Amino acid sequence: MKSRGLEKIKLGVISWFAVGLIPLMMFTACVEEQKLEELVQQAEPEKTENETEEPAVALPGLPDDVAGYERWLKLNVEPIPPVQGGDPHNGDKNVYVNQTRDVIAPNDEQEYPYPDGSIVVKEATRPNKDYIGLIAIMRKKAGSDPDHNDWEFIEYTRNDPDKEFTVLASGRICWGCHVRVENTDYVFTELE
Ligand code: HEC
Repeated sequence: MKSRGLEKIKLGVISWFAVGLIPLMMFTACVEEQKLEELVQQAEPEKTENETEEPAVALPGLPDDVAGYERWLKLNVEPIPPVQGGDPHNGDKNVYVNQTRDVIAPNDEQEYPYPDGSIVVKEATRPNKDYIGLIAIMRKKAGSDPDHNDWEFIEYTRNDPDKEFTVLASGRICWGCHVRVENTDYVFTELE
């Protein structure tokens, strides 16, 4: 009688395990798994976006080193509006640089000069147009032009979104005007 009673208790314990604890464990595991899945899902969109991001391709006619410039640091917040009267860079403009905010503005304040290797790109959408018609580039190349802070200037334009950009002007005509802002390393637009 005594041992049968024990048997019963054992059985009871085992079935409690089977009916109660194991499903409970499975349930918690399931919840954990779900949580994990949610976390993974939350983390994923960013990951897949980066992974599937198309490799940058330069606009037709532009050099490869400015491919993907639209993903660089943008100096201006709002597009820079057209300026009345003989503006050589007519249109709504954005200015980008291939540097990080930390590099050009440590302590939240922009510092000059720009480091060697910097590339500044300005794009302009011409008035009443819906495509980029002008790309102006400044490249900082050590030793290239010590009299003008070693910037190389070149500008490309196109009048048709299906056409290639071609060189409009470069060099003297550019720094002749940009020298006005020598104190900000020949760059008019400051980081906002
Ligand atoms: C008559 C003056 C003038 C001339 C000439 C000129 N620029 Fe500019 N440039 C400006 C001004 C002003 C800005 C500031 C943004 C704006 O208002 O478009 C600017 C902006 C730029 C920028 C963006 C960085 C910055 O300085 O803000 C680049 C790049 C640039 N110019 C390249 C060129 C190149 C290349 C040429 C020659 C083909 C050239 N510029 C000729 C006046 C000039």
